[in-house]
Amino acid sequence: MCSILGLSSYHDVAPTLVKSLKKMEYRGYDSVGVAIKNESDISVRKGIGKVNAVNDNLHMSELSGHTGIGHTRWATHGKVTAENAHPHMCNTDSIGVVHNGIIENYVELRQDLEKNHGIIFKSSTDTEVIPNLLQIHLEKSHDVKRAIMDTVQKLKGHYAFVALFKTGELVGVRNHEPLILGISSNDLLLTSDVVGLPENISSVIYLENNQFVIIDKHKHEIFDFDGEVAQFVVKTIPKNYQNITKGSYAYFTEKEIFEQPKTILVAGEENDYDLKKIVEFIRDSDYVYVTGSGTSYHIAVIAKYLFSRFAEKKVEHVMASEMKYSSRYIIPNSTLFAISQSGESADILESVSIGKKKNAKILSMINSKNSALARDSISSIGLNCGPEIGVAATKSFTSQMAILYKIADKLCDGCLAIDFKIVSDAYTKMLSNTSKIQELAKSIKHIENLFVIGRGIHYPIAKEGALKIKEITYIHAEGIAGGELKHGPLALMDSSTYVIVINPDDDSYVDNASSVNEIKSRDAKVIGISNKPDPNYDYWIQIPTIREDLYPLIEIIPLQLISYYLALERGIDPDYPKNLAKSVTVK
Ligand code: F6R
Repeated sequence: MCSILGLSSYHDVAPTLVKSLKKMEYRGYDSVGVAIKNESDISVRKGIGKVNAVNDNLHMSELSGHTGIGHTRWATHGKVTAENAHPHMCNTDSIGVVHNGIIENYVELRQDLEKNHGIIFKSSTDTEVIPNLLQIHLEKSHDVKRAIMDTVQKLKGHYAFVALFKTGELVGVRNHEPLILGISSNDLLLTSDVVGLPENISSVIYLENNQFVIIDKHKHEIFDFDGEVAQFVVKTIPKNYQNITKGSYAYFTEKEIFEQPKTILVAGEENDYDLKKIVEFIRDSDYVYVTGSGTSYHIAVIAKYLFSRFAEKKVEHVMASEMKYSSRYIIPNSTLFAISQSGESADILESVSIGKKKNAKILSMINSKNSALARDSISSIGLNCGPEIGVAATKSFTSQMAILYKIADKLCDGCLAIDFKIVSDAYTKMLSNTSKIQELAKSIKHIENLFVIGRGIHYPIAKEGALKIKEITYIHAEGIAGGELKHGPLALMDSSTYVIVINPDDDSYVDNASSVNEIKSRDAKVIGISNKPDPNYDYWIQIPTIREDLYPLIEIIPLQLISYYLALERGIDPDYPKNLAKSVTVK
């Protein structure tokens, strides 16, 4: 979603803001802007496009001033236009605001501001009501703190915003969307994501819900929405979250795919305690609901296969966005295991609050132990795979899956006994020779439809492979359970159709042979991902032979590579697929 920033420093802030915006661009990248307070007023520069392009054009980083705000946008209200880009100013140009989230009652607020206060709106965003409300309340009370409290009383929805006042104050407000205050001897930085922190800041305060911070003359004070001084804890950010670069790789997506031989070895290994706690809670509950969105939902489906097979646990997977429609079925003494890379997705946070109301114990698996989801859980386990910047989830998926295997293993008292070195070696082997996949990508780059099939536990892998292909290549791709082909999808098969068959040599192999025959009889092309050759394959993507129950962990790698190389062949930047954002903090 959008990234928001605010910086107060002893130096010019624009260069740092632009640098941080560039780092946070993966949260939203349709437009960008900054507002900087100089001696007499606030200067705004904003435009459509990515940070570097807009900066080359508008020279945002050359503005001078020691306090400023910045924003990269992922449009929710209003088209992608320069007018709708943030920051938004109030009518008197004395307050600028950058905002992440949604103001649900903005239509009523806007009508009231137009009718009763003569405000003229310049954009079609929900955001623009905020600086105008602040300005009207400030005019009444002449007190920034009071103006914030009066403004948040009026706003409905989940949001975080940073406001810059012409009088020099910088204010950050948090209501269900993340906001972090970074502190160093020279700088105070407000950011929606630790990735936005400059290298010199490693001490942070995570604002809690319904809190705001006022930064004035290099001092900060934190209050709750009732104006009471709030308690806070200063935390230190791990080094690998600062100064994240692509290294020698062309894209973050590529880097993150190729990091997997390492990340798979340390999944969930920050400490053994978290894993043990999660296992205890799952063991003690009568029923386990596993939830997530997108890629993390596919992990929830895999959990069902793994936990029921190896731990004989009753498990149900529920899409986070569907939880409110299934909540009445949450039975007593249940556990809700919430899976999320970011720990900030709005749907997952909502599903957790529904689970809490039904007295389910909330457990989570996340990449950021400081995320809202971690704070909502009684126990959580970290992926330990380092920051994931590419919009398409790759290394987080394999780390999540590895942790599921570890949980299943503990639930069945060590029946799995996995040596993850074997998995890591298999990754290294597949990643060290990608030429066949690159050739395949070249030859199928013009296709419009692709199917990915798998059976049993390979079905959610097929769904995940199809999601990767859709996201970063824009080819329509569908993940289907192999047995379902004959119940409809075969109607779509002809000589122009390509079907990827996930076909390791396990208990799904024989049934897949029937699917392959059905596909071939319709003249469609088969791309087999398997450790065994088959004359029916038009393309064979070989995977190493490995212990049967570990194939799900390795067969995803060729699917990630097919998506990545297809994106390159089709001239798409895999790090910034259109219409998407890494962390979806709106419903
Ligand atoms: C897919 C992808 C998304 C996320 C989904 C949930 O590549 O990145 O589908 O998986 O938005 O995000 P988290 O896991 O952060 O809750």
